[in-house]
Amino acid sequence: MYLFNTEIVCNQKLSPNIFRLRLKATKDFCREAAPGKFVMLGTDDSLFDPLLRRPFGICRWGEDWFEVVIKIVGKGSCQLSRLESGGAVAIHGPLGNGYPKDQLESVQKPLFLVAGGMGIASIASHIFSALDSKQSLAGTFLFYGAASYSELILRNELTAATAIGLHIHTITDDGSCGRQGLVTQLLATELQNQPQGRVFACGPEPMLKSVQNVLQKVGSEGYISLENRMACGFGVCLGCVQTVLSEDSKSGVETAKVCTQGPVFPAQEVVF
Ligand SMILES: Cc1cc2nc3c(=O)[nH]c(=O)nc-3n(C[C@H](O)[C@H](O)[C@H](O)COP(=O)(O)OP(=O)(O)OC[C@H]3O[C@@H](n4cnc5c(N)ncnc54)[C@H](O)[C@@H]3O)c2cc1C
Ligand code: FES
Repeated sequence: MYLFNTEIVCNQKLSPNIFRLRLKATKDFCREAAPGKFVMLGTDDSLFDPLLRRPFGICRWGEDWFEVVIKIVGKGSCQLSRLESGGAVAIHGPLGNGYPKDQLESVQKPLFLVAGGMGIASIASHIFSALDSKQSLAGTFLFYGAASYSELILRNELTAATAIGLHIHTITDDGSCGRQGLVTQLLATELQNQPQGRVFACGPEPMLKSVQNVLQKVGSEGYISLENRMACGFGVCLGCVQTVLSEDSKSGVETAKVCTQGPVFPAQEVVF
C-alpha cells in the first residue's frame, strides 16, 4: 500500500449526485490494484474538515491511473466530487483484501455478481479487469439494482462487457429501468435454477443480509463486500469492526477489522 498526493485527470458527472473521478497513480500502485480493493481519499480542504479521508472502491485502473465513482452523501464526498482536472488529492491504498482471485477466476460457473447502488463500483472492478485484460466472462451474470434509472451508472461500459460473455440484468426500486423490485429477487430466482453458482455481492447492509439469507436457503456459497464506516483504513482505530463467526466455531463470535481483514468476507461468516 502507498500514501501519496496526486491529481485529478478528469471528473465526469454520471448522474445528478454521482461522479466518476480518474486520478493519476504510480505504476506500483496500479500493480497492487485488484478487484474489491479500495482507497482512502481526501482533498487538501479535508485536512481538518472533515478530518479523515473517506473510503472508495477502486473501480477501474490502467498503468498509471485509476478511477473511483463517488455518490455525494456528506461533506467528504461532496468535496471530492467538486474537484476538477488538476485538483489535488491525498491517497492511501490500495487497501483491503479484495475478492478471492481463485474463486473469482475459477472455471466453475456460473458466477453471479450482485450489485446494489454504489456497490457497483466494487463489483464492476472485476468486470473491467476482465474487459481490460481481454479475459472471457462467459457464464458470468451481473444482477444490478438501484433506486431508479438515473442511479444505474456505468451502463455503456458494462454493456461493452457483454461482448466477452457477460449477461446483465437490471432492476430498479421504482421500475424506471428493468423490472421493478429488489436485486436479491433476481438472485433468488437464478440461484434456485443454478444452485451450484458462486455469488459475489456488494451493496447496502440490508441487501447483503438478504443475499446471505438467499444463499443459506439454497445452500450456495458466496462472498460479500462490506461498506462499514471507516476512520483510518489501515487497522489501528477499530472504527470499522464487524462481528463475524470465529474461525474456531466453538468459541462463537469475534470481531474483524473490515479495512484489513475485509472488506470481502465469506457470506456465512458475517453476523449482522
Ligand atoms: C470499503 C468501502 C468502499 C466504498 N466504496 C464506495 C464507492 O465506491 N462509492 C461511493 O460513493 N461510496 C463508497 N463507500 C461509502 C463512502 O465511503 C461514504 O459514502 C463516504 O465515506 C461518506 O463520507 P461523507 O463525508 O461524504 O459523508 P459523512 O458526512 O461522513 O456521512 C453522511 C451520511 O452518510 C452516512 N454514511 C457515511 N459513510 C457510510 C457508509 N460507509 N455506509 C453507510 N452510510 C454511510 C452517514 O451515516 C451519514 O448519514 C465505500 C465505503 C467503504 C467502507
Ligand atoms: S478503519 Fe480503522 S481499524 Fe478499520
